Order: sequence, then C-alpha cells, then structure tokens
Amino acid sequence: MTADVSTSLATPSPGGLPGGSGGMDSPREGAEPSPRATPSRGGLGGSSPRASTEAGQLVLPSYERPDGLHPPLDFDGYRSTALRHPKQPLVLLPHRLTEVTGPLLGDGLITPTDSDLTTQHDGEPQGQRIILTGRVLDSDGRPVPDTLIEIWQTNAAGRYRHRREHHPAPLDPNFDGIGRAITDSAGRYRFVTIQPGSYPWGNHYNAWRPAHIHFSLFGRAFTQRLVTQMYFPGDPLLPLDPIFNSVPDEKARQRMIADFDIELTQPEWALGYHWDIVLRGRDATAFE
Ligand SMILES: [Fe+2]
Repeated sequence: MTADVSTSLATPSPGGLPGGSGGMDSPREGAEPSPRATPSRGGLGGSSPRASTEAGQLVLPSYERPDGLHPPLDFDGYRSTALRHPKQPLVLLPHRLTEVTGPLLGDGLITPTDSDLTTQHDGEPQGQRIILTGRVLDSDGRPVPDTLIEIWQTNAAGRYRHRREHHPAPLDPNFDGIGRAITDSAGRYRFVTIQPGSYPWGNHYNAWRPAHIHFSLFGRAFTQRLVTQMYFPGDPLLPLDPIFNSVPDEKARQRMIADFDIELTQPEWALGYHWDIVLRGRDATAFE
C-alpha cells in the first residue's frame, strides 16, 4: 500500500486529525474535535438514534461531551491548544439524513496489507514487530462491528513520513506508518506493525512524546468520528507528557495504555498488545 490510505477519507497527518489540521506548533500533534467531528448520539458513541422531526426535517439529539473524561479543548501544558481551541461556544449543526446515512464505509475498500504495516513494501521495515488487536465496544460491552479504524504512527526511529516532519531521525523506505481495518462481527480489529519510537515535539524544553499510535474511528457516517491515541505500558515518558496528562481522569489515562499480552505474542516473530476501545459509559476511552 502506498501512503494514500485516504481514498475517501483524507490523508492522515502526523498529528491529530487525518487531513492535516493547521495551527500546530509542531507538525506532530494537534487533534481537536470540531463541531462537525462531534459524533451524533446513536453514532459511534451511542445506541440507536432517537430522531424527531421538526418542521418536516429529521433532527437528532446532539452529542454531549461528558465532564471529566475527555481532555479539555484548551490545556495549559499542551501549548498549541491555546491557539486553536474554539473561542466561541460550539455550534452544533443538525444532523440530517445526509450526515447520518452515508457514505457507507464498507470493507470492500480494505485490503489485507492495509492492516499489516510490515508488508506494504518490498522489504520489511526496521524495528520491533508487534501485533495489536482489540475490540470496539459500546457502553454495555457489546461489540461494535463495521467500524473503520485508521492508525498512523512513527517508524521505529520516531519519525513520521510527512512533509512537515523535521525530526532528524531516519526515514524507513519500507514503512509508511499508516494502516486501516474494519471491525468484524465481534467488534475486533487487528494490526501488525512496528513499535513506534519516541520523538521530540518542541512543546517545552526537552519535550518528548511517549511512544504512541494515533487512532481514528468512523462509524457508518462521517459525523461518527472519534480520534484518540494509544500508548505502551511502562513508558517512562508517560508521566511527563502533557497530551497524555490532559486527560483529567487517572483511570481514563490508564485505559489509553495497551496491555502486553504473552498469549497474543507469537514465538520467534512478534510481541502482542491488546487494546479495547470503549465508546461511552463508565469505561469509556478518552477521545480528543
Ligand atoms: Fe504523534
């Protein structure tokens, strides 16, 4: 696969939202939900939509951002949020049929190499091979099938393949750092990739990001989009990272860290990590 994971979606940028958001101090980080990226109730974040009609138009209840779980839009320690967070109250656009019914993100667009980032070129990438799997679950623990998951990450040296990348670490000609998969009937996804590296990001003196993988989830419509990051256990940079620590709840922060899984680990081949994504409820994953 080439770097064009974006046939219908947008090219993931190193930081934040695929499609490349502006106004970042660093080209690496910067996911902020926009009003249009806010999932509708009944989308990825909920159960069936409770639609009503007003003056002949379909009106869906808006999604309400829960307190204390997700990072604030403006976080002191995460410098660039000061410049790009909304200064005015969000305007929640009504979601009509166009927004909630399409396009359909079927698995026909996904190929096996999309979810195996180690086989997208003629040669194998450098670094520690890992298997990363988990499920997408709703607030009742039920699997959420047919969710498009896109990931983007650095290579083993901590470098993104991106035009705004300035970290003086080597590119890997055999690694793009972009993948995608569709959850199956059990809500499960699976990637084979390379352990990403840490990188400096200029937020403050000696600022280094802990190793992480960016995740974007789409439900059945573009309005059903969620973005987050997954981290690795035991990373000494986690306590120092403003982005990780912008998630206000300690338990929610811990839920962003994958579990090493020896049962998933394959002898002589790859380490296994397990990470479930919970859309809502008490065990919800924090989203940007
Ligand atoms: Fe990143």
